[in-house]
Amino acid sequence: MSEASTPALVFKGLEKEFKLGLGLTRVHAVRGVDLEVQPGEIFGYLGPNGAGKTTSMKMAMGLIQPTAGSIRVLGGDIADPAIRRRIGYLPEHPFFYDYLTAFEILDFYGQLYELPRKARRKRIDSLLELVGLAHARDRTLRRFSKGMLQRVGIAQALIADPDLVILDEPLSGLDPMGRREVRNIIVSLREQGKTVFFSTHILNDIETICDRVAMIVEGQVVRVGPLAEMLRSESMGVEIVAHEVADGTRERLESLGAGLEVVGLATRIRLAGEHQATALQALMEGGASVTHVNPHRVSLEELFVREAAEAGGADG
Ligand SMILES: Nc1ncnc2c1ncn2[C@@H]1O[C@H](COP(=O)(O)OP(=O)(O)OP(=O)(O)O)[C@@H](O)[C@H]1O
Ligand SMILES: [Mg+2]
Repeated sequence: MSEASTPALVFKGLEKEFKLGLGLTRVHAVRGVDLEVQPGEIFGYLGPNGAGKTTSMKMAMGLIQPTAGSIRVLGGDIADPAIRRRIGYLPEHPFFYDYLTAFEILDFYGQLYELPRKARRKRIDSLLELVGLAHARDRTLRRFSKGMLQRVGIAQALIADPDLVILDEPLSGLDPMGRREVRNIIVSLREQGKTVFFSTHILNDIETICDRVAMIVEGQVVRVGPLAEMLRSESMGVEIVAHEVADGTRERLESLGAGLEVVGLATRIRLAGEHQATALQALMEGGASVTHVNPHRVSLEELFVREAAEAGGADG
C-alpha cells in the first residue's frame, strides 16, 4: 500500500478495562472501538467527560496497553522508534518543569528528538511565534498562565515536525481568542499535509475545522462522519421557555420526549419540532406562561445524552 493511502491511525476492536483496588472493581473505559483516520485529515474525537477519549489516545501513544484489539500508527507500530519520532502528542495534563523557560523546555524536547542544535533553535523560535509566545521566550514557566502553558504544550507536540499530531483537548484552558488561534494552527497543520487527531467535548471548537469526527460515548464510537452531516441528520428541534410549569404539565411534556431544564424561575423545554403544537397546548392548559419559542439545532450535548441513553438501553 502506498504511503498516501495508508491510514494515519487505525483502531481495531480496541478495548481497555482498568482494574481498581484488588481487581474487584473494573472500569470498561474503551469497549471495542474501530476507527480509521486518513492522512491529511483533521479528525475530531468527540465525547463527554469519561467517554474514553484520553484512554484511547494514551493507547495510541503506547503509554498504556490495550486489553484487547490492535492499533496501527502511520502504518506501523508505536513501539517502533522510527514511527514514534513522526508523532507529536499533547497530553491532557501536560507537566513541565516550571523552573525552565519556554525556550529551555522546548529545547529539552528538541534534544529528545535528537534535533541538531542549530535546527532546534530555528524550530523553537518559529514555534514560539506560531503559538503566540515569542514575547515570553525567556520567561520561566512558573510565571505562565494556564493558557500560555497550553500553548507551550502545543509547541512541544510540534517540535519534531510530526506527520501525525495527537492532541488531547488542545483547546482547553484557552480564552476565545486563544481557541481561535489554536484552531488556526490546527488548520495550518493540515495545509502542511499533516494529520491531526484531537479530542474535545465542545462543539463550537471543532465545528468549523474538522473533516470528520467520531463521537464516543461510554467507551463506544456511536457515530463517525462529517460533523455537519451528523447534526443535519437530526431533526430540527424547538426550544420553548415558560414560567410556572406545573408538575402535571411537566409529565405531559416528558412523555413527548422533551428535555426540561429549570433555569432560575423559567423552565427551558427542548423537544422535536413535530411536538411543538402539542407541547404548547399542554403548557397553556396547565396555566404556564410561555415567553419564547425558538427553533434550534440539536446540540452536541443533546446528541451525547441521546446516544448515551441508547447505548445504556442496548446494554439492558
Ligand atoms: N488509570 C485509570 N484507572 C481507572 N480508571 C480509569 C483510569 N483512567 C481512566 N479511567 C476511567 O476510564 C473512563 C474513561 O476515562 P477517560 O479519561 O479516557 O475519559 P475522557 O473521554 O478523556 O474524559 P474527559 O473529557 O473528562 O477528559 C472513566 O470512567 C475514567 O474514570
Ligand atoms: Mg480526557
